[in-house]
Amino acid sequence: MKPVIAVDGPTASGKGTLARRLAADLSFAYLDTGGLYRATALRLIRAGEDGSDVAAAVEAARGITAADLSDPGLRDEATGNMASRIAALQPVRDALFAFQQAFAADPPNGAAGAVLDGRDIGTVVCPGATAKLFVTATTAARGARRHAELVARGEAVSLETVVEDLRARDHRDSNRAASPLKPAADADLLDTTELDIEAAFFAARKLVTARLDGQV
Ligand code: C5P
Repeated sequence: MKPVIAVDGPTASGKGTLARRLAADLSFAYLDTGGLYRATALRLIRAGEDGSDVAAAVEAARGITAADLSDPGLRDEATGNMASRIAALQPVRDALFAFQQAFAADPPNGAAGAVLDGRDIGTVVCPGATAKLFVTATTAARGARRHAELVARGEAVSLETVVEDLRARDHRDSNRAASPLKPAADADLLDTTELDIEAAFFAARKLVTARLDGQV
């Protein structure tokens, strides 16, 4: 088994940036599993669906390929909100499970290991992961980051709306019956509220290196 690093946490906690940098640093393959839920949501939005038709959502999830994961529409706020809604459907999660497990078990391009980020990687998708990080930050810090990101992309949205959406998404992700967002019992917690990207990366790398010690 090649080493797997699970990076979980709420929206805009910094987990994506950290996971991507850890993967580059270790020459591991990287999978943003939120992208799978977003790609499913985007297919539904483009088909004029509102996310309430479970069969349509499952069909969209089953059709996802690596090519869907680079669509710029994935990052839209509407896509993220729909993703969080359909992610609560167990049949959709089941449909995306095999893709994630296959990636972890056999990382593409012969990479020496894999980094997966999401909500349930350490708890459900890869419970046997070598290292598990649970990345958090206060709602205010995450809201400000997400708002800056959207403004930089030219989306006209108020900070208030972003924080409201974030709270709603956190609530849905943490309280759903299917794979709720929560740290694995053996996860290392990393609060990035007071850390810039560099400091957060060094902290993450230290935690992960300790877990990988002797395995890479
Ligand atoms: O991380 P990101 O914001 O891209 O994820 C979009 C949505 O997909 C999240 O709000 C969450 O509901 C869902 N998701 C999930 N399980 C994962 C990754 C993402 O439920 N492993």
